[in-house]
Amino acid sequence: MRVLVTGGAGYIGSHTLLELMAQGHEVCVLDNYSNATPEVLSRVRSLSNGVIHDYVGDVRDADKLDEVMQDFQPEAVIHFAGLKAVGESTEKPLYYYDVNVRGTLTLLHAMTKAGCKRIIFSSSATVYGEPVYLPYDEAHPTNPTSVYGRSKLIAEQILTDWTAATPDATAVLLRYFNPVGAHASAQLGEDPKDIPNNLMPFIAQVAVGKRDALQIFGGDYDTPDGTGQRDYIHVVDLARAHVAAIDYAETATGARPFNIGTGQPYSVRDMVAAFERACGKPIATKMAARRAGDIAAMQADSGRANTELGWTATHDLDAMTASTWAWQSKNPNGYEG
Ligand code: NAD
Ligand code: UFG
Repeated sequence: MRVLVTGGAGYIGSHTLLELMAQGHEVCVLDNYSNATPEVLSRVRSLSNGVIHDYVGDVRDADKLDEVMQDFQPEAVIHFAGLKAVGESTEKPLYYYDVNVRGTLTLLHAMTKAGCKRIIFSSSATVYGEPVYLPYDEAHPTNPTSVYGRSKLIAEQILTDWTAATPDATAVLLRYFNPVGAHASAQLGEDPKDIPNNLMPFIAQVAVGKRDALQIFGGDYDTPDGTGQRDYIHVVDLARAHVAAIDYAETATGARPFNIGTGQPYSVRDMVAAFERACGKPIATKMAARRAGDIAAMQADSGRANTELGWTATHDLDAMTASTWAWQSKNPNGYEG
């Protein structure tokens, strides 16, 4: 299929490009490089030896989208382009709604004009909010606790209404849990621009000597070791879920959410211990207060994705930490070398 990948130069997008090309799909990227560098696509090109059509532009720019649609004529769109920092979303709500909600709306208008009726959307486990029960399944109530989570839920609702009004349209809503890890080549990985917000890149930067110590945000949660538990998913498994979603969208219609996780919860201490095994040195930690807005634990029931998408995660925790360490140690300054 011809697949337009918005935000394709980003962390998850770049890994997905490789998996799409490996399955014979033709790809085109639209990215404004607000959180990426063109070096990413150079690396994806050399790893795949494939053709990547590529446009620099903003997903809120209707004229640019029309140009891309006319030139590339996508049969499906994977919509990664968006903002993802939970804390920042509270400080800049209008910016988050603009990019994540208006960006999705502008894209849907352009798709409608061009007759493209399939979209795979990057949603998030944060749409669920405080767990009523765990693991979350897709029927769990949605009650996001951040602007970021609300922006994803609003976009999901827009996509659902669009499919209801558009015969043959498909929206696959992938609710990612916590993506970590890097490509086996150690050429692609997560490259946060500032101080990492997320656990795994922070641990990796401590291991490589760029940060002194990891702050553990809370040791008094109601979890086995008192630290927060999450469902970490290897980015290559996540990338493959998008390929499975593209196959599904070939015949399915309507909007459908899918959890993408492993179902296995790991605590902050579990992640530190696994990383120490991967890098062979101790990771300095210090206990800190709970981070505002954090929940104690979350975990996915991905049974629907297993049965309906025919997708299952295959990478375990050691594969997540080993690939992160290989990427970080070979690229201590990310894509800058
Ligand atoms: P990322 O920041 O690495 O990738 C996003 C890409 O989109 C970047 O290349 C960025 O330059 C581009 N972009 C941002 N705004 C744009 C705009 N207005 N127009 C065009 N391009 C734009 O992030 P990621 O981790 O790869 O996440 C991809 C998607 O998945 C995002 O929508 C994010 O909200 C969602 N998501 C991420 C996580 C996570 O923890 N990484 C979890 C759940 C959902
Ligand atoms: N943590 C620390 N120290 C740090 C960073 C994180 O102890 O320096 C802890 C957190 O308190 C939490 C766990 O590590 O218990 C994971 O935190 P992350 O920031 O890595 O991930 P979150 O679960 O908070 O959120 C992430 C992404 C969201 C995404 C969500 C999906 O940031 O965009 O996963 O589950 F939507």
